[in-house]
Amino acid sequence: MALVQLSYFSRPAEGVNLKQDVKSIVNTARRRNRENWVTGFLMFRHDLFTQVLEGQREVVSQLFQRICTDPRHEGVVLVGCETIRKRRFAEWSMGFLSLQEANRELILRYGESPHLDLRQLDHRSLVEFAAEFSAAAVDRALPELLEVR
Ligand SMILES: Cc1cc2nc3c(=O)[nH]c(=O)nc-3n(C[C@H](O)[C@H](O)[C@H](O)COP(=O)(O)O)c2cc1C
Repeated sequence: MALVQLSYFSRPAEGVNLKQDVKSIVNTARRRNRENWVTGFLMFRHDLFTQVLEGQREVVSQLFQRICTDPRHEGVVLVGCETIRKRRFAEWSMGFLSLQEANRELILRYGESPHLDLRQLDHRSLVEFAAEFSAAAVDRALPELLEVR
């Protein structure tokens, strides 16, 4: 079974309350992702959601289809999807962080000016950005069911 990594961006729907709605999205996401061995990271600000999802190919495909029809956002654009040998977000059932917290240095690393447009990044750059950005998030929500066989 192939392990894949998918990224997309979208716009929060009108009327979405970022604080409340993101909390409820992430609560559901963490529960379901733990059950399905999905990991990833969600970044958001008033005009943008961008998320990386990792997991088994069929599971990620189905999840992405569900996410695409979620009325809490619109204009979902797939950035990329590729098979991977190992996860970048193994410790996150779904990490999340407001993009307001992105620091200047990180933005300059990925953009040609201080006005980084995350929508212009390719899949791998977006994953790298999310991985570096996730280091700033403290609420790790470790999967509960880790076992070594
Ligand atoms: C930006 C965004 C990210 C989401 N991320 C996930 C996720 O990682 N995992 C997940 O199960 N649901 C996620 N959801 C929620 C799904 O769209 C869906 O509401 C949820 O999986 C429950 O599906 P169901 O009502 O068909 O059971 C996300 C929704 C949005 C708007």
